[in-house]
Amino acid sequence: MGNGIAQVAARAGFDVVMHDVQDGFLQRGLGAIDKSLQRDVDKERLSADEKAAIISRIKATTDLNALSGASLVVEAVTEDLKVKTELFGALDRVLPPESILASNTSSISITKLAAATQRPDKVIGMHFMNPVPVMKLVEVIRGIATSDATYEKIRALTEKLGKTALDCHDSPGFVSNRVLMPMINEAIFTLHEGVATRESIDGIMKLGMNHPMGPLALADFIGLDVCLAILRVLYDGFGDPKYRACPLLRQYVDAGWLGRKTGRGFYEY
Ligand SMILES: NC(=O)c1ccc[n+]([C@@H]2O[C@H](COP(=O)([O-])OP(=O)(O)OC[C@H]3O[C@@H](n4cnc5c(N)ncnc54)[C@H](O)[C@@H]3O)[C@@H](O)[C@H]2O)c1
Repeated sequence: MGNGIAQVAARAGFDVVMHDVQDGFLQRGLGAIDKSLQRDVDKERLSADEKAAIISRIKATTDLNALSGASLVVEAVTEDLKVKTELFGALDRVLPPESILASNTSSISITKLAAATQRPDKVIGMHFMNPVPVMKLVEVIRGIATSDATYEKIRALTEKLGKTALDCHDSPGFVSNRVLMPMINEAIFTLHEGVATRESIDGIMKLGMNHPMGPLALADFIGLDVCLAILRVLYDGFGDPKYRACPLLRQYVDAGWLGRKTGRGFYEY
């Protein structure tokens, strides 16, 4: 998600610093950006010069201090409250006081992330969809302390990125994943119970409901670890057993079968 967000921002003309914990992850991200832009060059939607200019606006680093000049950080690290709050605390110390801290979290409370900083008024949810360069929506989530000024700036920025901002209150899973994840989880239960094969389950939802992807293929695309993390936030957040993650999903994550990113999930890649 991070490389997609970096690509979209650089394409809109912004200078971008992409940060990760290991150089290998950054190289993989830069490779994904190159491949995605090359597809547009091949389809004559972008010139080779424009592609080179976009890439030249992206710097990659493992040094968090390199973000010290940023007016906005969009955090897109692992969907884990501890990892995110630690990073928000560190970013709060590195960034100038006026900078905005946005999170691409799929489900975690923006209010909780904001509380890890000394600038809760400048913390907001900016939930991009996957794949970022293609998908139009950004779900914009205000924490309890998010100021009107922060919200207005992020809405305007979202439009500048060529996306559509839709608002949502800070509630577990927001709207997108509160609606999507129970469907994906239920599809996994039907597979687990032997109700149908993976191909039938996905085919029924594609042909019957006009979904572009079946729920099992979509889960592989999102990442099974991310799906499980979101279901846990829903389960804990609402205290309602209807969000209980299917044991098969938990087993796949235990096995390291995380979907496309590891070459195996409900399908093999
Ligand atoms: N996968 C999706 O379809 C999707 C869609 C929308 C939002 N999201 C959200 O976006 C975020 C990232 O998801 P993803 O699927 O790209 O996850 P991912 O696991 O593929 O990538 C996370 C990246 O964050 C890096 N990272 C971990 N800790 C870090 C730290 N302290 N500092 C810097 N980098 C760190 C990891 O090295 C990794 O490269 C999550 O919050 C997720 O919920 C995911």
